[in-house]
Amino acid sequence: MAEAREWIFSPQRIIVRFNIFRTPPSTHMPRPHVIVNLAMSADGKLSTRERRQVKISGKEDFSRVDALKAGCDAIMVGIGTVTADDPSLTVKSKDLIASRRARGLEDHPVRVVVDCQARIPLDASMFRKGSGTKVIACCEDADPRRCRALSGVAHVIAVGKGSVDIVAVLSQLYDMGIRRIMVEGGGTLIGSFFERNLVDEYITFIGNMIIGGKEAPTPSDGRGFIREDTFPSLTLFAVERMDHGVLLHWMVKKNESG
Ligand SMILES: NC(=O)c1ccc[n+]([C@@H]2O[C@H](COP(=O)([O-])OP(=O)(O)OC[C@H]3O[C@@H](n4cnc5c(N)ncnc54)[C@H](OP(=O)(O)O)[C@@H]3O)[C@@H](O)[C@H]2O)c1
Repeated sequence: MAEAREWIFSPQRIIVRFNIFRTPPSTHMPRPHVIVNLAMSADGKLSTRERRQVKISGKEDFSRVDALKAGCDAIMVGIGTVTADDPSLTVKSKDLIASRRARGLEDHPVRVVVDCQARIPLDASMFRKGSGTKVIACCEDADPRRCRALSGVAHVIAVGKGSVDIVAVLSQLYDMGIRRIMVEGGGTLIGSFFERNLVDEYITFIGNMIIGGKEAPTPSDGRGFIREDTFPSLTLFAVERMDHGVLLHWMVKKNESG
């Protein structure tokens, strides 16, 4: 892998970008390019142990995330995040929405929730706020009445038993024309993406606080990895001082099953 560095210095800002040549994409089943983006405390927590959403980054990171979202075809979260935060998952900037419209796109990327039992409330923010396509990915044994009710407000995909088959979901999203998806969390969903080698880029804003608590969610929860040779391996792409913290942008190295 060849590497060159670009440094940008100013008193408040240090940006280092590493120009890396990426491994060619694998020839496996087509799926969208997956970007995980999250904010965590300096001790690696996504929220408090009560799973209460907290402010970790600032205005600059908020705008960056909004632009990233606007540049994606879809955004995905797990039902744990909907239960905890009830996010609308919409693009906030009027300029970014206007630029999406000018490109012939819906105002917001397709909003996707991974939710085994299709238990997302029909009055969740993502159904009330913003126009555009929503997708609920549930398990095959989800209550058919819940699926029917949700089909009035979203496209329902039923794949997998016990947990949603995210490989199949990504494949169906690809068939819907989605080429670039941002996965926003939480830790359980991101853990599943890493376990299946489905992450291409991993972007973390690290804030200037300690949240603590061994029960507090972290970026890749779930079962975790045991052997070093199975750890997903990353290549640093950019480091940037931002708000009162730092932004790290990693590329995920692909192994043969990727
Ligand atoms: N700081 C940040 O950037 C950020 C971003 C997002 C979220 N968060 C925080 O993260 C916390 C929520 O995270 P979380 O880990 O509890 O929930 P989550 O990752 O949002 O959702 C996980 C749930 O999704 C469902 N699911 C179905 N199929 C799955 C699959 N294949 N893989 C993974 N999950 C699957 C499962 O619930 P069912 O079995 O019931 O379907 C699972 O418990 C909240 O505290 C929120 O504030 C922080």
